[in-house]
Amino acid sequence: MRITAIANQKGGVGKTSTCVNLCAGLGLLGRKVLLVDMDPQANSTSGVGIERDSLESSIYNLLVDGAPLFECTINTAWKGVSIIPSVIDLAGAEIELVSAISRETRLKKALKNADSFHHVIIDCPPSLGLLTLNSLVAAESIIVPIQCEYYALEGLSQLMNTIELVKSHLNATLALDGLLLTMFDSRTRLSKDVAAEVKSRFGDKVYKNTIPRNVRISEAPSHGMPVQYYDSDSPGSTAYNKFSKEALKRWQNKED
Ligand SMILES: Nc1ncnc2c1ncn2[C@@H]1O[C@H](COP(=O)(O)OP(=O)(O)OP(=O)(O)O)[C@@H](O)[C@H]1O
Ligand SMILES: [Mg+2]
Repeated sequence: MRITAIANQKGGVGKTSTCVNLCAGLGLLGRKVLLVDMDPQANSTSGVGIERDSLESSIYNLLVDGAPLFECTINTAWKGVSIIPSVIDLAGAEIELVSAISRETRLKKALKNADSFHHVIIDCPPSLGLLTLNSLVAAESIIVPIQCEYYALEGLSQLMNTIELVKSHLNATLALDGLLLTMFDSRTRLSKDVAAEVKSRFGDKVYKNTIPRNVRISEAPSHGMPVQYYDSDSPGSTAYNKFSKEALKRWQNKED
């Protein structure tokens, strides 16, 4: 079982799209995957077709009440993919947890019981608060999506500092898996410039596959479907399947 957080405190960079479509991609490769939605916006939850109103337990119960993992996990309609859904109440958890015992390690502790899965993929909210902190403490590694737009690199040093802080105090073995360029538009100079700059700073850490800007990726969540199921022939579907293979290979190389 390998736990990976998808994190970037910058909003709207493709964390949730990457989370949902990576989980679907890994599922299609025959892996058993648990998606953990740590964002009160619950976009991953609705993105895999789970109705928030129908939920009995969620990540809130797991973090705040210490509910067992199996009670908060539900299967999705997509091959190999289960989810611990989020609810809007989770925004309150960030405050409720402030005074709680072992507040940074709640998720880590809960995920000890996730060993029936090959992968746990955590969707982080766009902040560096207690929910992201719990995710970084629980994770072995992190994937950072970078949107190929102006200011893409802004805030990245803050994220890297946070990773270093977590490493020195709470999770010494946390590793950066890689950076994924998202919403890449090969027709624009800007996309190419951003990609070149990220590659010059991070070298091999940048995944070879990039995710193109593709309308199918943005339409799929409103149908509650990963892009691979919404339109399997779309460039977005192909890109996320290729990225899923690359991510899997990177993890397997680390284990060798
Ligand atoms: N490759 C893409 N092509 C086109 N649209 C995309 C692509 N990736 C993401 N989007 C769209 O961009 C918006 C932001 O993406 P997403 O929700 O994945 O980002 P996020 O980082 O999770 O946002 P937040 O910080 O709010 O959680 C969404 O409307 C999504 O559908
Ligand atoms: Mg999101």
